[in-house]
Amino acid sequence: MVCKGATAKDFTAPRGSGRVKILVFGAGAIGSFVGALLSIENEVTLVARAAHADAIRARGLKISGRTTLVAHPNVATEVPIAEFDAVFVTTKSYDTANAVQALQPLWRRTIFVTLQNGLGNAEALSDAVDRVLAGTTTHGVTFVRPGEVVHAGEGETVVGVVKGAVRADADHMADVLNRAGIATSVTDDVRRELWAKAIVNAAINPLTAVLRAPNGAVVANEDLRGIVERLAREGASAANDAGVTVEGDRIAAKAVEVARATADNRSSMLQDLERGRQTEIEAITGALLRSAAKGRRLPYTETVYALVRGLEGSLAVAPKEKTDPRRGNLFK
Ligand code: PAF
Repeated sequence: MVCKGATAKDFTAPRGSGRVKILVFGAGAIGSFVGALLSIENEVTLVARAAHADAIRARGLKISGRTTLVAHPNVATEVPIAEFDAVFVTTKSYDTANAVQALQPLWRRTIFVTLQNGLGNAEALSDAVDRVLAGTTTHGVTFVRPGEVVHAGEGETVVGVVKGAVRADADHMADVLNRAGIATSVTDDVRRELWAKAIVNAAINPLTAVLRAPNGAVVANEDLRGIVERLAREGASAANDAGVTVEGDRIAAKAVEVARATADNRSSMLQDLERGRQTEIEAITGALLRSAAKGRRLPYTETVYALVRGLEGSLAVAPKEKTDPRRGNLFK
């Protein structure tokens, strides 16, 4: 266990070592999925909204689809006063600032892992927290109802060091995830990985939100697939403008591959709109638009950005809730 003042090295356990004490902050689709799987071999506490927490206490956390499981993690509706070996942050990107505040007691005590969509989360954590890893995952998971999520599409998970940690910490975290059945690799260039994931999201999520269709629909015919590829290539040019090398054709192929692998999933952006919630359009598509060099036009990206913003407006999506700083907004 990590105690106050522990160094990154203290955290590193030998591969295959035993249970780890993990806090998962944000129990939406991905947080619930990861928390449930991690809880099989580790001591996991999931910080969730009251309805989700009550359902999990009563019936367990049910995962159906590609993974079938009823997990029984500890649940809480605010950050417990306890020591943890690692904190996973899995909130929506627009709630990262709230999450950071809510997790303040743990800033110096443990290692944080952001597993969120969008750009800017790793930076927001790094501004406050001593040791930060970041990860991306392309698993497709749908939040069905309190206490239940569906694993609708297989994906890949990658982690890497952002701040104050060492490669061995990333290796250990990947090992913990692998042992939980979440196939995870380690990268030495996590920044590039975060951009690549944001580009994949920017190529898939807004289109699914506009079409009100699962991921597979956006690659089901040549015309729509062409839009996905153009969005991905535009995203690559924005990344390159920001100094992150992403190859256009390769990321376009990756976006198509992820949409196919998660064909049955309703993207997180579509799920948000269907639940009348704010989307992550700003941290995904908006972030790419803001990164493009002055004068560079990204016509497909600009169009889907405007459409999703329009949908948020016309559906009278609830403005971001005022949240208890100890809880943040816990769904992703
Ligand atoms: O945001 C999402 O929904 C997911 O990141 C992905 C990989 C596009 C699967 O739906």
